[in-house]
Amino acid sequence: LAPTELSFAVTRNDAARSAQEREEILANPGFGKFFTDHMVDLCWSEKGGWHRPRVQPYGPIELDPAAAVLHYGQEIFEGMKAYRHADGSIWTFRPEANAARMQRSARRLALPELPTEYFIESLKQLVAVDADWVPDADETCLYIRPFMFAKEAFLGVRPANKVAFYVIASPAGAYFTGGVSPISIWLSSEYTRAGRGGTGAAKTGGNYAASLLAQAEAYENGCDQVLFLDSSEGKYIEELGGMNVVLVYKDGTLVTPESDSILEGVTRDSVLQLAEDRGHRVERRHVSIDEWREAQASGELAEVFACGTAAVITPIGLVKAKDFEIGSADAVAGELTMSLRKELTDIQYGRSEDRHGWLTRL
Ligand code: COI
Repeated sequence: LAPTELSFAVTRNDAARSAQEREEILANPGFGKFFTDHMVDLCWSEKGGWHRPRVQPYGPIELDPAAAVLHYGQEIFEGMKAYRHADGSIWTFRPEANAARMQRSARRLALPELPTEYFIESLKQLVAVDADWVPDADETCLYIRPFMFAKEAFLGVRPANKVAFYVIASPAGAYFTGGVSPISIWLSSEYTRAGRGGTGAAKTGGNYAASLLAQAEAYENGCDQVLFLDSSEGKYIEELGGMNVVLVYKDGTLVTPESDSILEGVTRDSVLQLAEDRGHRVERRHVSIDEWREAQASGELAEVFACGTAAVITPIGLVKAKDFEIGSADAVAGELTMSLRKELTDIQYGRSEDRHGWLTRL
């Protein structure tokens, strides 16, 4: 499929929700619970490459029970958002970065790379038919979920020669039910998320599946998210179940883990850029849980926050481990955390100048 042949066949959903049903959903969308009326899909085969781009009614996907994804988990995804600006226009944030990350994930999972122009065109096509689903209330958006999986019916273990790419979308409010107040995180001592040479840096379902038992342990211990340490030494912080971590020192330095087994967050990269623009020093390096503990005890640590597309920037109040705690569940949200959050969301919602050229109109 040459870029010039990228014309999508559009089938409108006859059973689309009424304006009133939609408005009721948009008034209180939560996160990931409701979906728009359409979805995008493209097929890939070894012989034909990418073909049959379509916009079709949102609904169940027919899959052969032997489809490789159901057995061997050959799957990747992305998380993005569409924001409505005050003039009604709809924008997304750094889609080239998500397209490039999906290409890296595809390479790691032996899936075909979807060219950036197809990826971005897919978002545009979906938002064109489902524009009314982009909410306009404060802090709401349309969460967009592109994903790709092996659909070849074959039980041998090898890269599939038939693959599907879909984009679905879901109106969203805050990821955490408590809004933007500080969250508590559970330090997983028993489980790790990813090992050396594994799939930790790829956005693949298996990493999230591997996090679920530890996430359940976090809930049992009254925490919102789980924090994983590196798998070889059990010393260095990696990431949370679904977002990156940044520590802020009193001297203004921001420190975030460098590791080839964590996801390179687009939100993290953007926030660190904004901090650097303000003259903050940014360090990407190994950070041990002991360093975090000692910096908190000595008073050198000012704030800690989690960041990701879904969570945006969320302050971390408490780290709870089996035999120690860092910080406090009643901590107030950090000043820099909240001001970087504001700066980022002001850019995303078109309230301040997009000086890095991060926005793309959908
Ligand atoms: C995102 O932040 O978009 C993700 O994909 C992570 C998940 C926790 C929703």
